[in-house]
Amino acid sequence: MKHTEKILIVDFGGQYSQLIARRVRDLNVYSDIVGYKQAADYISKNKPIGIIFTGGPSSVYEEDSPKPDESIFNLGIPILGICYGMQLIAYCLGGRVEKSSKREFGKTDTKFKTSCALFKDLKQSSSVLMSHVDYVSALPEGFVSVAETANTKNAAMANEQKKIYGIQFHAETDQSEEGREILKNFLYNVCKAKGDWDMKSFLSDATADVQKTVGSGKVLLALSGGVDSSVLAALLSKAVGENLTCIFIDHGLMRKNEGDEVEAAFANSEMNFIRINAQSRFLGKLKGVSEPEKKRKIIGEEFIRVFEEEAKKIGVVDFLAQGTIYADVVESGANGSAVIKSHHNVGGLPKNISFKSLIEPFRALFKDEIRRLGLELGLPDYLVYRQPFPGPGLAIRVIGEITEEKLSILREADSIWRSELEHSAVKKELGQYFAVLTDNKTVGVMGDYRTYDYTLALRAVKTSDFMTADWVHIPYEILDRVSSRIINEVSGINRVVYDITSKPPATIEWE
Ligand code: XMP
Repeated sequence: MKHTEKILIVDFGGQYSQLIARRVRDLNVYSDIVGYKQAADYISKNKPIGIIFTGGPSSVYEEDSPKPDESIFNLGIPILGICYGMQLIAYCLGGRVEKSSKREFGKTDTKFKTSCALFKDLKQSSSVLMSHVDYVSALPEGFVSVAETANTKNAAMANEQKKIYGIQFHAETDQSEEGREILKNFLYNVCKAKGDWDMKSFLSDATADVQKTVGSGKVLLALSGGVDSSVLAALLSKAVGENLTCIFIDHGLMRKNEGDEVEAAFANSEMNFIRINAQSRFLGKLKGVSEPEKKRKIIGEEFIRVFEEEAKKIGVVDFLAQGTIYADVVESGANGSAVIKSHHNVGGLPKNISFKSLIEPFRALFKDEIRRLGLELGLPDYLVYRQPFPGPGLAIRVIGEITEEKLSILREADSIWRSELEHSAVKKELGQYFAVLTDNKTVGVMGDYRTYDYTLALRAVKTSDFMTADWVHIPYEILDRVSSRIINEVSGINRVVYDITSKPPATIEWE
């Protein structure tokens, strides 16, 4: 990559390390997260313009707590320590860190010395997120306190001459009112960043990189229609044009019109786009199967089989492209060891296709950056902002045995639910929303007739990480309208229910 400015984030095991990296990048400076043992190596190879020490669960005075190589303080590179990171700076440079009798947690009013470069143009006082028991009780030589709270005299410290700063609070979280400004001051006021990281520059660098790596070789990509694979297809197509082949396997388990939308978005571009209509093949394999794990396994295996068959028809494949993203790389170990992510979301890597190497142009990107890149590449909003969709698709949203009839009932009902929500004011609260066709049939009455039809469940959750989720309080008028539209417009359903369970104890999907 050509961008030269980098911020090194030295990870001491804090829960917000990735958030710090994202915040820095949002401020247009590229950042990398590296474990504290790899920091020296990273610095000598990458010459970062600034260093941030993250928080962490340890106490600096414990013997085996993680500590950086102390030479890091003599390099002349600006350093900002956050929480544990601040305590480390204090401890390593001769200050004192102690355990407080009182934990300071949550939003805390803080007074700032705005003459400090880190707090330039801030209000004199605003709230920050505190989360600590240990505190810096004596500052190292050369440091002064630059912020305080009712409980903590040294809520931030600075050695302006050496450009070393510590903040006891988490400026990276939204709960710190002026957190963004503080990080911005560190980047632009202290590290003198120019701000050369944006998706436009990434796009031109990544395009050039891919062209250099691929040359005139052939690239193969399994396109699922999900955000990562769609943006990757667009990028590779721009970079290598007809040397890219995308195989889109329509397993017949996508939502209403989704297969055609993917085709419409990609079929006319420069690349070779192959759509495999394998609906009947998948449905055949799924006949009589009701158990969700079994459905997943069958779909995963069949996916690989179809992909391998089609890849063989193409002949020589030099590169297999994958949408591995930065979160995967970081989670696989701070040294960025290789991760093999399932290329299509439902199974493993194909075994019977030989290729020279993998190309993974998104290894440095966060999910929200991939979306921004998608917009930069001109992809339509419905692909870029597509909500997560499980690889096995509607197979796990039709409870019990899957039939073509059930899939079609679900598609229609799901499309009504989604379109009503998408045109409502509640849309901005929603993380994921869909319908589930239960295998419960009950008696109903419609006109003068008795019916015996399915119960449809509606789900809508808000979530930031999909690990936990809250059900959304959808206004009654919307629920009312959706229920009546579904009953009137979709035959086969005579009862509609709304799921009011959060995760935990439930999961988001209904399998
Ligand atoms: P649960 O139901 O476990 O789902 O609360 C959490 C999130 O994961 C999505 N999901 C999947 N995503 N491949 C995916 O990429 C899958 O096989 C898969 N299964 C579930 C689910 O939609 C929710 O967003």
